[in-house]
Amino acid sequence: MSDPKKLFIKTYGCQMNVYDSERMSEAMAGAGYVETQSPDDADMILLNTCHIREKAAEKVYSELGRFKALKAGNPDLKIGVAGCVAQAEGAEIMRRQPLVDLVVGPQSYHRLPEMEARARRGEKPLDTDFPADDKFDTLRHRPKALRGPTAFLTVQEGCDKFCTFCVVPYTRGAEVSRPVSRVLEEARDLVERGVREITLLGQNVNAYHGAGEGGEWSLARLIRALAEIDGLERIRFTTSHPNDMSDDLIEAHGTCEKLMPYLHLPVQAGSDRILKRMNRNHTAESYIRLIERIRAARPDLMLSGDFIVGFPEETEADFQATLDLVEEVRFASAYSFKYSPRPGTPAAERRQVPVEVQSERLQRLQALLTRQQRAAQEEMVGRTVKVLFEKPGRQAGQMVGKSEYLHAVHVDDPSLAIGQIAPVEIIESASNSLRGRCIAS
Ligand code: SAH
Ligand code: SF4
Ligand code: F3S
Repeated sequence: MSDPKKLFIKTYGCQMNVYDSERMSEAMAGAGYVETQSPDDADMILLNTCHIREKAAEKVYSELGRFKALKAGNPDLKIGVAGCVAQAEGAEIMRRQPLVDLVVGPQSYHRLPEMEARARRGEKPLDTDFPADDKFDTLRHRPKALRGPTAFLTVQEGCDKFCTFCVVPYTRGAEVSRPVSRVLEEARDLVERGVREITLLGQNVNAYHGAGEGGEWSLARLIRALAEIDGLERIRFTTSHPNDMSDDLIEAHGTCEKLMPYLHLPVQAGSDRILKRMNRNHTAESYIRLIERIRAARPDLMLSGDFIVGFPEETEADFQATLDLVEEVRFASAYSFKYSPRPGTPAAERRQVPVEVQSERLQRLQALLTRQQRAAQEEMVGRTVKVLFEKPGRQAGQMVGKSEYLHAVHVDDPSLAIGQIAPVEIIESASNSLRGRCIAS
């Protein structure tokens, strides 16, 4: 038998891309490839790209440039671009960077082995269709070593919301939910292979409405069914939209023990004028009331958010409204970005805020968010949390895992095993993680 060919995948962007990269790796295993951790000895390189901000998209071209020497040394090396840049820019990528052999959009990954074969015949295949067949039906799991006791599971893809700043509805297409039976089957398979925590993924995961017994199921109903799986201990989901936070999902935070008390619920801005221009269809007030209701269901819930500063026409007063909202809501963690105009989106055509103003506002917002994040971590000192241990820490005898609240927790205890869930008393808060000691359960 000949040696297996080697595949190097580099993943940018969101968790959905991480999930998709694993599926691509499995699809290519069927074509005789094993994954390698370095591009240097690869027979094929795949960049799974992100188009969300200009910087993310441009990274792809600088990365491709670096592969020139590799390709000169190995003419058989095939280079592919997948993901949202592939979807958004298509053939333009091959024009800009002739060393690219294939371009594959997020809905066509099941066609990758066939595309690779065509590339080996000297063609330059490009597939950015939105086919009617479900890529996940053909991208079936193969038995393969898992990376640890936690896993992502895509349940929903695409978005119909069309926030005026966002490329996702164009790169991922219309909102589609996977059928309940497929999700449950994949979850059971993951648990059989040692997974104890599953994060359900979707660009709009709480809009989930997959076909199930008796009709369409909501995300809350899906979560309750997943919670029945023995051996699955923790369920999370991301990313949600405030407008799809239904009553049953709010209630699930109080009643479903396996659903973790951490919620990522992007608000983007605190000014109603800006939220309207963003086409968010919620107000600052409605978001604050929603958070109150979720916290009433689960008082210890920790909240995370996304923010965009310097959206077109944002004034100092608008920005101040974002700071006010953050002060009122309190976030345990957050991602914040300068608005980046994206080709083809409505906001890109509006009057832009100068980049110096954006930078200055981002700094102020991040200072506030960092203070809140520190405070949320400090609050944990002295408390007992349950930690799911995921991997050894940097120091000998140390293990690292996540609390219910998604804090990284380090514990010095060589007797701990990966996949174990143990009660830990938090003794110290460092800049981005906590330190604790195991206590008897
Ligand atoms: N589906 C999720 C998030 C998708 S993208 C949601 O609805 O919230 C992740 C984050 O990137 C967004 O929440 C937003 O804060 C940010 N983002 C999206 N487009 C952007 C742009 N053009 N410029 C800056 N940030 C952007
Ligand atoms: Fe983008 Fe999220 Fe808005 Fe959809 S809901 S358009 S993914 S920011
Ligand atoms: Fe980026 Fe596409 Fe995800 S644009 S954030 S990789 S959906």
